[in-house]
Amino acid sequence: MNLKNKTAIVTGGTSGIGLAAAIALKENEANVIITGRNPERLKLNCDKYGFEGYQFDVSDEKEVLSFYEKIAGKHPQIDILINNAAYGYFEKLPQVDTGKFSAMMQANVTGAMLMAREASKIFINQKSGNIINIASTAATRGFEGGTAYVASKFALRGMTECWRAELRRYNIRVMLINPSEVQTEFFVNSGSAKKEHNPTKLIAGDIAHAIIAALKMEDRGFITELTVFATNPNS
Ligand SMILES: NC(=O)c1ccc[n+]([C@@H]2O[C@H](COP(=O)([O-])OP(=O)(O)OC[C@H]3O[C@@H](n4cnc5c(N)ncnc54)[C@H](OP(=O)(O)O)[C@@H]3O)[C@@H](O)[C@H]2O)c1
Repeated sequence: MNLKNKTAIVTGGTSGIGLAAAIALKENEANVIITGRNPERLKLNCDKYGFEGYQFDVSDEKEVLSFYEKIAGKHPQIDILINNAAYGYFEKLPQVDTGKFSAMMQANVTGAMLMAREASKIFINQKSGNIINIASTAATRGFEGGTAYVASKFALRGMTECWRAELRRYNIRVMLINPSEVQTEFFVNSGSAKKEHNPTKLIAGDIAHAIIAALKMEDRGFITELTVFATNPNS
């Protein structure tokens, strides 16, 4: 699709991969709506890049519904949802906290479902649309300490397959992108120590590149799932 004048929603567009995707969409002359919880970062990025911003938590159904009501009046057509907002909670099994596990599932899984559910109603009505779910290589394999996060990303990958099966008949492309490690605030936000920048590891712009490439493919086809690795991250 040609991205010029298309309208895109990017959840978690205030930082990292979401912000890089929002910038790349804007560079391709799309209208960009970003969401996030942090009002300062939201305002800063909207002012700097010319995005439209909405502050809410994707895990709160009322807030998600209110967001879609607000944009309905302003945007007669929505073309793209980048379902990106999520965070990590890493703990080995004996230490997994039920409250933290559930809160993360509510944001990463229920939040993604709510955003896509409401977008799908618009897309079915239009008989066109694009959903890109940002999962992870953690959606394809488990690892130590990954119980909560891996569960959330396997769930997102599973939902992607269901939505694809339901929505293709309405010309809606449902895609999954699995980044491996990307140097963003993600790990610090998940409680890890800040690491020094490593030029051989992925940056948010690399995932934005994959997102734009997937969207730009002619509408007659789509890439179902795309995994992005750093070429030689330990060099
Ligand atoms: N970095 C990696 O190595 C990596 C690898 C694979 C996949 N991913 C995935 O890539 C996506 C983006 O991560 P990132 O690396 O860019 O991390 P990040 O820099 O921490 O960005 C996460 C974004 O999500 C938003 N967010 C988190 N929880 C939210 C909630 N409940 N409601 C609304 N917004 C929420 C944050 O904004 P606010 O704080 O303002 O709410 C922020 O904009 C996530 O889905 C992550 O799982 C990351």
